[in-house]
Amino acid sequence: MGGQDVMTAREVVLETPDAVAQYVADFLMEKACAAQGVFRIALSGGSTPRKLYALMAKAGYAGRFPWDRTEFFYGDDRFVPADSPDSNRGMVQSILFAHVPVPPENIHPMPDRGEPDDAARSYEADLQRAYGADTLVAGKPLFDVVLLGLGENGHTASLFPRQPVLKEKTRWVAFCVPDDAPHTRLTLTYPVIASSRHVLFLVTGPSKADVLSRVRAGDPAEPASHIRSDGEIMWIIDRGAAGQAEGKTGR
Ligand code: 6PG
Repeated sequence: MGGQDVMTAREVVLETPDAVAQYVADFLMEKACAAQGVFRIALSGGSTPRKLYALMAKAGYAGRFPWDRTEFFYGDDRFVPADSPDSNRGMVQSILFAHVPVPPENIHPMPDRGEPDDAARSYEADLQRAYGADTLVAGKPLFDVVLLGLGENGHTASLFPRQPVLKEKTRWVAFCVPDDAPHTRLTLTYPVIASSRHVLFLVTGPSKADVLSRVRAGDPAEPASHIRSDGEIMWIIDRGAAGQAEGKTGR
């Protein structure tokens, strides 16, 4: 099996969260501009990528990024209305999409109403339409880039500890009701995240240093430890998350 796992992934340690956002914005710009045809991204939610989205809404990126041939999907979302402060789609819309010339049809938010399982199946159908098939094929990645974060409990996307979705082998999208976080969520599953050229983990702050060490060591109890990509995985982290903050010895 080709591809990469979280233990062998490359790690880029940067000074600050702003430097992490800058690095990822430049990476996305380079890959999107070099891509032939449609460039497909799965966006992450939570607080860490906000700096990235705000940066890409600024002139240096807003005027040069190929918005017209980029398709934006979500790695996960909380099953709440878009105007909720906890909505990832609402967050990205207000920080990024409201400020750049992206065609509305290129934005694919996760559904936020109805039965969660029906919503997951409908988003799965959206992805299969974009892919052009309902079976993932090795060597034909669905995503060019999947952006992921890391929770202090080891979750990534909405792949939370102790949840049935962690065992999902066939569904592309599933719902999850975490026992340690608010809201029902929709999430991409491990197999569909693996159908990627690049998986980028954005992790910042000393509060993530311990869980990041466990995941980098492949601790099976951490959901993020099981992330794979048919392409490459990169950890884009700051000194705090690398345990290199003031007074900490580092890795
Ligand atoms: C979400 C995210 C989730 C996030 C982690 C880290 O919807 O919450 O997609 O997986 O990446 O919870 O969140 P922070 O960046 O806020 O620490």
